[in-house]
Amino acid sequence: MTNNELSYWDSYSKKYNGIWDRTLYQKYLSSLELSFIKKYLIVARPIIYLDIGCGYGRILNFVAPKIHTGSKVFAVEPSVEMLKLCKENYPGYSKLSVINTDFLKYNFSKFPNVTFDLITAIRVLKYYNSYGDWFDKIFSLLSRDGIFIFTVTNSHSVSFFDKLGVNHFKISLAGLNYYLEKSGLEVLSIEGYQILPEFLYRVFNKSLYLNLLIGFERLLSSVLPNLQFKRVLYVAVRKKR
Ligand SMILES: C[S@@+](CC[C@H](N)C(=O)[O-])C[C@H]1O[C@@H](n2cnc3c(N)ncnc32)[C@H](O)[C@@H]1O
Repeated sequence: MTNNELSYWDSYSKKYNGIWDRTLYQKYLSSLELSFIKKYLIVARPIIYLDIGCGYGRILNFVAPKIHTGSKVFAVEPSVEMLKLCKENYPGYSKLSVINTDFLKYNFSKFPNVTFDLITAIRVLKYYNSYGDWFDKIFSLLSRDGIFIFTVTNSHSVSFFDKLGVNHFKISLAGLNYYLEKSGLEVLSIEGYQILPEFLYRVFNKSLYLNLLIGFERLLSSVLPNLQFKRVLYVAVRKKR
């Protein structure tokens, strides 16, 4: 992460706080992401969980109350401003092992013998095209049965109107499979969402239109069930057996 990118996340943090509860569409998209994660939560035994790029704590707030109370929760977040918001939003913050740095630069050997049963990186990897580095590092941190859940932007989608204040990248399904395979990770499942371009959701952000767009999205998904045109890909992987 460059200094400019870090400044971007620091300065964007206040606007970003609670963004996924703001409009009907954002809530809907967030609920799809959270339902995907829910499928992979281990609840019967304590686990070691890591959230990469925890931001204001959206994913921690969803996952932590659902896993076993004896679980250990870690979060990596380079932005101090995001962490301040996470502290305000996430009641478990005092027990959280916070690592305030860039995931790719951090040396986890400071936690000898720690491997993670669950790692999440939601809406983080799209800011990088160093997929090989990410997946190699994830492989080294996952426990034998550990699961990594992340999202990426599909390059085979109508996402060319996307507007973000920081560099972001897209990857094809073939590219994704290539990097995962190379790092020794195997896919448990991939789901996708959003065929319509993002700008429509920004322009028609009143509840009536949003409901229509969401309805239309569902219709399109039923006639185009494969992942080809879906903008956001939700991916769950584990170490290859
Ligand atoms: C779009 S926000 C997503 C926040 C949260 N995961 C969510 O879905 O609500 C991206 C977050 O990832 C963090 N981030 C970006 N690059 C990172 C890196 N290399 N290591 C850890 N976190 C990173 C940013 O600081 C920012 O807080």
